Amino acid sequence: MYLWKALSLLPLVHNVVANSFDDDLMSFVTLPGVRALKFNVEHHDRTRLAPGYWFVAPYSGIGPEAPTQKYQQFQVGPYIYDNDGKLVWAGSPVYDNRNTFDFKPVHNIDDDWYLSWIVGWKHDDSHKGNGVVMDHKYQIKNEVQVVNDLHDFNMHEFTVLPGGKTALACTYRRMMINLADFGRPGEETGVVLGGFVELDTTTSQIITEWDSRDKIAPHESEILKPEDPNHPIEDAADYVHINSVDKNAAGDYLISMRFTSTIYLISGADGHIIWRLGGKESSFIQDFVFSQQHDASFVESDGTRHVISILNNGGWEGAEVEPISSALVVELDTSVTPGTAKVIRRVNRPDKGMTKLRGSAQVLPNDNLFAGWSEWGYQSEHAPNGDVLMTARFASERFSTYRTYKSEFIGRPKTPPAVVAAVYGTNKDDLSTTIHVSWNGATEVASWKFYARSWDRGTPVFIGSTNKTDFETLFIANGYMDWISVEGIDRNDSSLGSSDVHRSKTPMDWKAAGFRGADNGPSPENPAVIYSTMEDVQASTGNGDPAAPHREPGVYSDAKKLAQDVHQASELIRKVLGLLGFIVTVSVVGGVGVILFRVCRRRRMRSYLHVPQDEGLLTEQMQVQSSRV
Ligand SMILES: *[C@@H]1O[C@H](CO)[C@@H](O)[C@H](O)[C@H]1NC(C)=O
Ligand SMILES: *[C@@H]1O[C@H](CO)[C@@H](O)[C@H](O)[C@H]1NC(C)=O
Repeated sequence: MYLWKALSLLPLVHNVVANSFDDDLMSFVTLPGVRALKFNVEHHDRTRLAPGYWFVAPYSGIGPEAPTQKYQQFQVGPYIYDNDGKLVWAGSPVYDNRNTFDFKPVHNIDDDWYLSWIVGWKHDDSHKGNGVVMDHKYQIKNEVQVVNDLHDFNMHEFTVLPGGKTALACTYRRMMINLADFGRPGEETGVVLGGFVELDTTTSQIITEWDSRDKIAPHESEILKPEDPNHPIEDAADYVHINSVDKNAAGDYLISMRFTSTIYLISGADGHIIWRLGGKESSFIQDFVFSQQHDASFVESDGTRHVISILNNGGWEGAEVEPISSALVVELDTSVTPGTAKVIRRVNRPDKGMTKLRGSAQVLPNDNLFAGWSEWGYQSEHAPNGDVLMTARFASERFSTYRTYKSEFIGRPKTPPAVVAAVYGTNKDDLSTTIHVSWNGATEVASWKFYARSWDRGTPVFIGSTNKTDFETLFIANGYMDWISVEGIDRNDSSLGSSDVHRSKTPMDWKAAGFRGADNGPSPENPAVIYSTMEDVQASTGNGDPAAPHREPGVYSDAKKLAQDVHQASELIRKVLGLLGFIVTVSVVGGVGVILFRVCRRRRMRSYLHVPQDEGLLTEQMQVQSSRV
């Protein structure tokens, strides 16, 4: 009797087979354009994980790509995932797939949560890119533009400072400098200066500007040699390579220079270098080394005591200084001369690998350490004692993220939940309505309530509810339900908002779809007739849970039988086709008769070409290019 339901899965199975080359991407019925990356997650100890979400910005090529060069649309851009790697927010449509960097949560503007990131420059140079501040309703609050002569908004850092009026960014600018430092006073060579700006987030005006000119000499660089031939300006040497900037309450700036392997504290008052940590001229007696580091930021900074977190790459494409990359927390004491620098925490990359490019390190509020190892989105969370609590990476090897952050966050999208409803069945008495629902970026939905109407403005009739278990939830209602709406419910059973009213999709040709009945197919049923007894059942069984849907016993056992049939059929299909990895989870929601299953659906269109990632030697040069005059 329910075989058609199982058979209706066959086209889906076929799609999974046909598209298995991209089974490292998620698919959603309610968000057909988005193919978010899947994460492979290993939890070693869930109980000690910090609460919160992951903030990643996958890209396939570090430089901007023409849209037609993308592997597919909508993997590139800002994305939020939960602790299990389930999608929470797909943000790549906001800037149409443009490369995104330094995507992170912001909680220092007011009591609400915000997001910030950098949109990369356009592949055709028609736009320089910008910094973005977005509110928790996913509405853009600020777009911070490049207002000077620079080629682009540099990809490394965009940090909103407390109060939200200003933000920090890195700058790259070419210039000719004198080579007196190398004993060649009459000569000049082209270098890329490393600098930073503090910008007004409303007007984009530059409030403070600093760069390495006359402050960081060529001999501090690990890539300039006294005997090197002079660089013409168009082939300027990226001699310092700034990759992070932070600011403390005292108003001084902490910057990381990859190609001097040095972290500098810059005076906010007059721009002089207050001290150097690491490199050839460290101001500190250090009990450790680091090199080619990324993401130096203050954990604490108070007078003469500073605590700093660093992603210590320990090498780069040219050389390895240490065998394993690590995340470090270091404590500096500047009350003595020379100052002292000690490692107070070190976590090695759990797979003992090297992150030769990029990366991030973050001390979480519960004192866990969250490290982003960049390539393929590899990331790990560590307990204060160093225990590895979680490792994860993209299922795909075509994508990486420059940094990754973890934080609590509350998102309340202004757009309503997305709903797709469809009716199937072979005869009038055997119809059911599948309802897919998702709400991109809504973090507080605990369950969904489903409603149908007998006409577009009819009274909504409650037809069931189910817990939210993933980005997208499927609910199956008995009968031909139409004029569907879905309401998001939070943990406290309060409404978060409702979708628009959606018509249920029907087969284009009911007869061809196997319907035995009137040629023009069945008509929508009055939901009140099928579901009207729910209140009565509730009263007679004394079930006191108002959130639980209730049905007459006959409806319940039918739906349960249906669930079993679908489950058995999908098992059979899986065995017949030998499909590993095709998982249909069918569950009967406790005593209610609602079937949930998750299936992969074919994307609606594929206008993007499959182009393998270009992993050349250009990775660093790409960033230098971002400074071209
Ligand atoms: C649920 O209620 C508790 C207690 O009133 C409150 O602290 C919490 O913020 C509420 N949660 C949500 C998601 O509204
Ligand atoms: C739905 O979620 C609530 C709260 O987490 C839980 O108590 C309940 O058992 C869940 N219901 C089902 C059917 O899983």
